[in-house]
Amino acid sequence: MQRLLSFLQPRMDLNAEPHDGTPLTVAGLFAGIGGIESGLHSAGHSSSLLCEIEPAAREVLKTRFPGVALHDDVTTLRHLPAGTNLLAAGFPCQDLSISGRRQGITGSRSSLVSHVFRLLDESRDQLRWLLLENVPFMLKLDSGGGMRYLIDELESRGLYWAYRVVDTRSFGLPHRRHRVVVLASSRHAPWDVLLSNDSGHEPSADGPDARLHGFYWTEGNRGIGWSVETCPPLKVGSGLGIASSPATWDAESGEIRKIDIRDAERLQGFPVDWTKPAECVERPSARWKLVGNAVSVPLGAWLGSQLRNPRRYDWSSDQALEHEEPWPDAAYGGKGEAYRSSVSAWPVSQPLTPLRDFLQFPGDPLSTRAAAGLLYRIQKGTTNISNEFERDLQNMSQQEELRLKKKALEGLHVRIESLTRMAREASQFAEQVRLNEEVQSLRFEAKSMQNEIEELAHADTV
Ligand SMILES: C[S@@+](CC[C@H](N)C(=O)[O-])C[C@H]1O[C@@H](n2cnc3c(N)ncnc32)[C@H](O)[C@@H]1O
Repeated sequence: MQRLLSFLQPRMDLNAEPHDGTPLTVAGLFAGIGGIESGLHSAGHSSSLLCEIEPAAREVLKTRFPGVALHDDVTTLRHLPAGTNLLAAGFPCQDLSISGRRQGITGSRSSLVSHVFRLLDESRDQLRWLLLENVPFMLKLDSGGGMRYLIDELESRGLYWAYRVVDTRSFGLPHRRHRVVVLASSRHAPWDVLLSNDSGHEPSADGPDARLHGFYWTEGNRGIGWSVETCPPLKVGSGLGIASSPATWDAESGEIRKIDIRDAERLQGFPVDWTKPAECVERPSARWKLVGNAVSVPLGAWLGSQLRNPRRYDWSSDQALEHEEPWPDAAYGGKGEAYRSSVSAWPVSQPLTPLRDFLQFPGDPLSTRAAAGLLYRIQKGTTNISNEFERDLQNMSQQEELRLKKKALEGLHVRIESLTRMAREASQFAEQVRLNEEVQSLRFEAKSMQNEIEELAHADTV
C-alpha cells in the first residue's frame, strides 16, 4: 500500500536547474593514474588539483598531467583550489570489493570517503557537482550499507543524486568491468546526466568466430572469470595474493598467453605505456596494481560529455524505491524521495572489438608450472571448464611434470659427481666402500628416473 501511495505521489519537486554545459574545473581525490580525469579532459573539462598518496601513481600523474597541483594525503588536504566546481573521488575500494577485505565502508581505507564530505562542506558555495565512483559490490555488501551511508550523507546536505552501474564494454572495449558512478548536485539534475542515455542491450563478441577467451590464471578454486572474446575485470589482487595479468586461451592453437601490461592499459582506454613513469619509483609489476585500480577512460569521457550536454531523463515509468528495498543497479532521488531506474549498464552501444582483434602485444606464454597449478586448483575446486581447455591444460601439466623430473635428474647427477669425487679422495677404505655403495644406489635411481622421463616424453609425442 505504502509503495502504491508513493508511486502515485507527484514526482519530487525537481527545481533542479538545467546545467548549462560549460566546462568544469575538477579536483580529483584518490586520483590513481587519472582515469576519470583523462576522460573528463577529453570532453573539455580541466583539473585544478590531483590528490593521490601512492608514489608510483603520483609519478604517473606528474608526467601525464603536467602543471596540475598534486597533493599526497587526502586527510591533510585542507581546501579545494578556488574555482573548483566538480569534486571527483574514486575512493579506495579494498574494503568493498569482492576480492578485497569486505569490511564495508567503515573499513580503514574506504572510510576515507568521509574526507570527501568534509571538503565538500568546506567548498559548498563554489561546487556544482560531486562525482563518486566505486565497485558495484558496494550495493550488496552489508545489505547495501555502504551505499546507504553515501545516500544519507548526500540527503543530509539536501543534494539531488543519481547513481548507475556502468560496464566498460559499453564503450567498445573488450573488457568486462562494472563500476557504480554516483553524481550529486545541490542545483542541477544528476539524472539528466547519468540516466538519460541507454542502449539497453549487453554488448557481446560471442559468435561463430569467437576464438580467444580471457580468464584469470591465478584463480581456479571457485571460478576463473571466463570471458568470451573479452578480458575479465582487471583487478589489483588475485587468488594467489599477487597482482597478476589475466591470460588468454586460443581455442584454435591451444596457446595460453598472459596479457601484456600495455594491452591492459589499452583495455582501460589509456594509451600504451601510460603507467611507464611508475617504473622510476617501483618495480615494473607495480603497474598492474595501478591499471587494476583505475576507472576506464571512456567512462570518464562519457560522463564528461554528458555533463556538457545533459538531456532530459524520461522517468515516466519509474517507481518509488522504498527505504528497505535492496539497491537496484540505477536509482535517483533527493529531498527524501528515491526512485529506481530501469536503465541498463550500457548507456551507449559502441561496436565491441573482439579480444582477438584488440590485442596488439603477444604477451608471455603462461609457464607450464602456472598451468599445472591452475589445473590443480580447478580439479580440487568447483570451477567448470570446457573439455578442450582442460585438454590443453593437461598437456601443459604433463610438460611441467617432465620439466620437474629433468630438473631432479640434473640434481642427482650433480650429487653423484660430488660423491664420486669424495669416494676417490677418501683415505679410509670403509668410507670408500660406503660412498661407492651410495653412488651405486643413486645411479640406479637416476636410471629409473631417466626411463620414466623417456616414457613420459614418448606418451607426449604420441
Ligand atoms: C580506487 S583507486 C582510484 C583510481 C582512480 N580513480 C583512477 O582512475 O586511477 C583509489 C586510490 O586512492 C588512493 N588513496 C588511498 N588512500 C589515500 C589517501 N589517504 N590520500 C590520497 N589518496 C589515497 C590509492 O592510492 C588509490 O590510488
